[in-house]
Amino acid sequence: MKTNVSIVGATGYTGLELVKILHTHPQFNLTYIANSEGDTTIDALHPCLTNVISMDVQKADPKDIAEVSELCFLALPHKTSMSFAKELIALGVKVVDLSADYRLELETYEKHYCPHEDKENLPNAVYGLPEFYESEIKKANLVANPGCYPTATLLALLPFVEFIDESSNVFIDAKSGVSGAGKKLSETTHFVTINDNIFAYNPFKHRHMPEIIEKAKLLKNKELKVSFVPHLIAATRGMLVSVYTTIDENIDAKAILKDFYEKSEFVRIKETPVDIKSTAGTNFCDIFVEQNGDALFINSSIDNLLRGASSQAVVNANLMCGLEAGTGINKIAYVP
Ligand SMILES: NC(=O)c1ccc[n+]([C@@H]2O[C@H](COP(=O)([O-])OP(=O)(O)OC[C@H]3O[C@@H](n4cnc5c(N)ncnc54)[C@H](OP(=O)(O)O)[C@@H]3O)[C@@H](O)[C@H]2O)c1
Repeated sequence: MKTNVSIVGATGYTGLELVKILHTHPQFNLTYIANSEGDTTIDALHPCLTNVISMDVQKADPKDIAEVSELCFLALPHKTSMSFAKELIALGVKVVDLSADYRLELETYEKHYCPHEDKENLPNAVYGLPEFYESEIKKANLVANPGCYPTATLLALLPFVEFIDESSNVFIDAKSGVSGAGKKLSETTHFVTINDNIFAYNPFKHRHMPEIIEKAKLLKNKELKVSFVPHLIAATRGMLVSVYTTIDENIDAKAILKDFYEKSEFVRIKETPVDIKSTAGTNFCDIFVEQNGDALFINSSIDNLLRGASSQAVVNANLMCGLEAGTGINKIAYVP
């Protein structure tokens, strides 16, 4: 029997990606879609769905969600998400939250975001990076889907953390397509600003830096000296991360990476530097590593909207519902 699921935040980019995946998912039945106003249809919100899906879009209401679904995806801005998650969990609905609201420990969250309004559920939330938390995700009622930059960075970096000295700098140069900023227009995402252009933003101050540091510490018990600088590039989707650090020169970085992800369905180890087209449209994270004595370069690529958000959220939901991780997940990239 199929599991009934719902989406809140269907107007946005990650909400649309969820609709697309869930529409063809063999084990999930999409029963409820909502945004902040309701009173419309999904194909009116997203004309690309004309003659494909025409479900009503409701004004989001946790009680209505609980009546028609067992699991809910929250594709909402931070702060808005936690008020929905709190009610949904109380009503017995499982939640996969795409925002930052349940990703961090309380102190880290409140330092970088805002006061937390659901301290009861926060400690029970599982960080939804399946390569590292699969058994916990399978038992969870509330999964915090990782940020897009932390997903690409942690998958690249974690296999090497035990070989990096705590005194070494870990420089992370990250680049994202414009959809990473969400649907709302701003000066930096305006066509005239980003077209033919590339620029850094929030160097050392982006909120994904504490997420990377905290998760590396929790998983590998090491406080890394991370310097994180994101850039915006003139692409719609895609994310490329380049990590530069120093390492014990006696290790064989390529062999370590291969062994680490030998059994991973959604991490591919590449023999040449990675690109964003080969992962666009998929849940793959492609990783390449090169070593020069004690200098290490790790290069990863994901689709920010999919592996960085919506397809990873569905993988998490699959695990929470006792399904195979890859159920309903596309593996063919948008190439050319
Ligand atoms: N974009 C990415 O690549 C990416 C990657 C990883 C994680 N995320 C995270 O995923 C979440 C969604 O991101 P996004 O890029 O899809 O953002 P987005 O395009 O800005 O969409 C967010 C949507 O949330 C809806 N919303 C806001 N308040 C609401 C409410 N009270 N009730 C119902 N709907 C409400 C809005 O719809 P209305 O128009 O109806 O208000 C808006 O369209 C964010 O927390 C983001 O940080 C995004």
